[in-house]
Amino acid sequence: MKKVGNHNSITRKLFLGVALSLIFSFTSFAQEAAAVAAPDAAAAPAAASGGDAAKGKELFNANCAACHKLDAKATGPALRGIASKYEMAWLYKWVKNSSDLIKSGDAQAVKVFEENNKSVMSSFPQLSNADIDNIIAYTSEPKAEVAAPAAGGATAVPGGPVADSGISNNLILAALALVLVVLVVMLVLVNKVLSKVAKANGIVVEPKAKTTPIWQAFAKNQFLILVTVIFLLLTSAYYVYGFFMQVGVDQGYEPIQPIHYSHRIHAGDNEINCKYCHSAARVSKNGGIPSLNICMNCHKNIAEVAETTATPEYSKAFYDEQIQKLYTAVGWDQATQTYTGKTQPVKWVRIHNLPDFVYFNHSQHVTVGGIECQTCHGPVEEYEIQKQFAPLTMGWCIDCHRKTEVKMEGNEYYTKIHEELSKKYGVDKLTAAQMGGLECGKCHY
Ligand code: HEC
Ligand code: HEC
Ligand code: HEC
Ligand code: HEC
Ligand code: HEC
Ligand code: HEC
Repeated sequence: MKKVGNHNSITRKLFLGVALSLIFSFTSFAQEAAAVAAPDAAAAPAAASGGDAAKGKELFNANCAACHKLDAKATGPALRGIASKYEMAWLYKWVKNSSDLIKSGDAQAVKVFEENNKSVMSSFPQLSNADIDNIIAYTSEPKAEVAAPAAGGATAVPGGPVADSGISNNLILAALALVLVVLVVMLVLVNKVLSKVAKANGIVVEPKAKTTPIWQAFAKNQFLILVTVIFLLLTSAYYVYGFFMQVGVDQGYEPIQPIHYSHRIHAGDNEINCKYCHSAARVSKNGGIPSLNICMNCHKNIAEVAETTATPEYSKAFYDEQIQKLYTAVGWDQATQTYTGKTQPVKWVRIHNLPDFVYFNHSQHVTVGGIECQTCHGPVEEYEIQKQFAPLTMGWCIDCHRKTEVKMEGNEYYTKIHEELSKKYGVDKLTAAQMGGLECGKCHY
């Protein structure tokens, strides 16, 4: 029995090891969580000129970004560090009404005006001195140092927690794997010890008796074979049916577009409303793809993306090249800030496409029905590349018509029909189906 005692001490050591490694992984997990939390506190910008740079950034983007950039000339001069060039009192006057200041003969104002081809800056009488302080605080922030993307990729992801949770997941997985290995080792040890004990006590372990192999028993049993054959036929029929049902269904279709246009960056990060570009969706049958001059409303001024927009997958250089493609297509000369007149259409690849015999109307669903784009198109604001989210099958349309209650409140068009139909069906709420959304003629020409 001395050996058994020995064995106990081995397992005790092993348990200690497991416990230690677990503690280690959890503490490093906690450290990571702390590290994630820390930069938030440190990142609070140091406000210059007494203003709040964060508020200033908002104001700048809303009012000034159309003509000014921080570090490069646009319609107006670059504004970073402008506070060192002028007195605050002068800046208040200039921003509130630059034309008045120029007319009054202010030497500085006239000089800037002449230097900029006498283009006129808009007036902002609505901005208070405090607002302007905030904007100037924002323009006084030092240029952000861009961390070179780390080779490992883990730190290159903005929003560190994502990468960090990956690491801690890996740690947990490693710990679990370790536990598994230890368990296996322990089983082997236990087996060894037990057989030693058995040997010591003189117990003989009987070898297994010979039996017919399973496959032979199976081959002899006709009933089992019949059941198996039926089972196999049914499953293959199921897969064949599934195969035929997905013919012509392009769910997930994600073609490469001539310009890598990212909905994540536009509709997500920059929160541009879908209907700003797809304005047709509100009022007509089609969603509509925006014409390129809508892009130029912004891209006259946005010739490159911020460093922080780059991802491990797509570099800043890649994105900038895409904007150049847009410029080539509309014939925009960046150096002279004019259109050359030489255009070439962008051939966007159509993604969603119902068969010609189906009638689908966007305004009916978006404006009348009040359905969000995302219900049918998925989380578009997260798509780096646009794709077909829904299957666009008849079953998909019908399913939703059966389930979705029509929004009647505040819609005069429905008052009468609601009264009649709710009497007919004896319900308070009506689904699209009860309103006639299952009639073949509504969807088929
Ligand atoms: C419609 C375009 C436009 C908008 C919007 C605009 N600016 Fe200007 N800004 C100009 C132009 C053009 C100039 C050059 C002077 C001129 O020609 O009048 C200028 C000049 C300036 C100057 C002097 C720069 C220098 O280097 O001397 C400051 C400061 C300034 N703008 C601040 C602002 C602020 C702050 C806002 C937002 C509240 C703003 N601007 C919005 C067009 C604009
Ligand atoms: C800045 C303009 C812009 C904004 C904002 C925008 N889109 Fe788009 N959208 C486009 C362009 C350009 C295309 C064509 C290129 C492509 O497919 O990526 C497109 C394509 C699409 C398509 C696929 C069209 C097809 O070929 O079947 C859908 C669906 C779509 N957008 C939905 C949305 C939704 C939903 C939103 C709001 C969350 C949105 N878009 C915001 C410009 C925009
Ligand atoms: C409301 C303003 C606005 C409109 C309209 C707009 N963009 Fe952009 N675009 C932006 C901003 C903001 C960025 C990102 C800048 C950054 O991240 O630093 C951007 C970035 C881009 C980029 C580089 C990133 C990427 O998506 O690959 C391309 C290409 C681009 N836009 C193309 C287009 C096209 C094509 C259209 C028209 C269908 C369009 N944009 C319309 C504001 C706009
Ligand atoms: C009830 C579901 C539904 C909703 C809600 C919806 N769409 Fe669509 N969308 C579709 C279908 C179906 C198609 C394919 C239409 C076709 O091929 O004729 C489509 C096609 C498109 C297209 C491709 C161009 C076209 O018209 O064929 C764009 C762009 C689009 N949708 C944008 C939007 C936007 C933006 C919104 C929100 C304002 C929106 N959709 C809301 C179902 C929907
Ligand atoms: C997300 C749910 C949803 C999906 C998916 C959907 N619909 Fe609808 N549909 C509605 C609702 C809700 C209404 C009622 C809108 C209203 O008039 O208030 C409606 C109404 C309609 C109408 C008018 C019905 C009538 O009684 O006048 C037609 C036609 C229609 N849908 C066609 C389609 C087609 C075709 C598809 C598939 C390509 C589709 N819908 C997919 C929710 C949906
Ligand atoms: C809510 C809209 C809607 C209604 C109501 C509707 N359909 Fe459809 N139907 C569709 C759509 C969308 C497709 C295209 C599906 C596809 O391409 O996979 C389709 C396709 C079909 C097809 C062709 C099938 C195929 O695979 O090519 C037939 C046949 C059809 N429908 C018959 C009917 C009949 C009969 C009714 C009335 C009982 C009806 N539909 C009602 C939307 C509808």
